Amino acid sequence: MARPRVLIDTDPGVDDAVAILLALASPEIDVVGIVAVAGNVPLEKTALNARRIVELAGRHDVPVAAGCGEPLSEYLGEDSVVHGHDGLGDLDWDEPAVTLDPRHGVELIADLIRQGPLTIVAIGPLTNLAVLLQRHPGIEGGVDHLVIMGGASFEGNVTPAAEFNIWADPEAAQLVFAADWRITLMPLDLTHQAYLNDDDLDYFSSLGSEVGRRIAAMLEPYAQFHDRWYGNRDVIMHDAMAVYELLDSAAIDKQGVRLAVETNGVHSRGATFIDRRREHAQSRVRVGVRVDNDRFRSLLRERLATYRD
Ligand code: RIB
Ligand code: CA
Repeated sequence: MARPRVLIDTDPGVDDAVAILLALASPEIDVVGIVAVAGNVPLEKTALNARRIVELAGRHDVPVAAGCGEPLSEYLGEDSVVHGHDGLGDLDWDEPAVTLDPRHGVELIADLIRQGPLTIVAIGPLTNLAVLLQRHPGIEGGVDHLVIMGGASFEGNVTPAAEFNIWADPEAAQLVFAADWRITLMPLDLTHQAYLNDDDLDYFSSLGSEVGRRIAAMLEPYAQFHDRWYGNRDVIMHDAMAVYELLDSAAIDKQGVRLAVETNGVHSRGATFIDRRREHAQSRVRVGVRVDNDRFRSLLRERLATYRD
């Protein structure tokens, strides 16, 4: 069976970087494009970071484009400091030789869908996908599978109610959830089960590759952030869970649900309501419920170790 063609829509972002490097090193999938969206940091930074990551992976064959710089409605946030001021842990980088594709990111996605069945991994706010649906009605029919990191069943992270990717553009999420495509959602209650520890950071440092050194270096401030916020240095691999679903689906237990998002609440704007009642068991929308973290960590280590200078 042909490898799934995969488009990654992303707001790098340290955990985005790990997810993208994992995807680019995995033979189960064929990454055919990367599109940046505003999110963790503004679009000019997320687009630069996407170029940096593709350069670091040595994958000049993968087109990188810039998508939407503003959400569908007003953006209530400011630059995230979770990922550093540049969005990638504030390391020193040379200007990447990888240049931006001249197409708007939404048009790159549309062209890739027209070329054949596409799987989309969405690991930032869903603005690009919402605009794709607005500009190209019915285009979701060309998408085999949409895997989203976003939402939360119980507690948010940017507010008590909402997870960042959904909170940053809830109107976009509402459009994306309502469209007729197969969705697998990885909410916070799943992603918090997947984390790396200091042994993993030491392992990456010991790989002797630029990828290993940079992953370890950008995860260090991310671990310090986790320590301040959660009281331990376990770095949560939110975005990697969306990629992992395509590599080892059996490692993530899932269930069919009905999904809704709050766009009007004063305190609940961006909250996701995940209805797990049995009547939704066969829904086209599923959520990740449980993941084997040691199985994930082992595969991540194996794949990142394949990068050579
Ligand atoms: O809430 C976690 C999500 O928000 C991840 O995608 C992370 O990169 C940030 O964008
Ligand atoms: Ca992200």
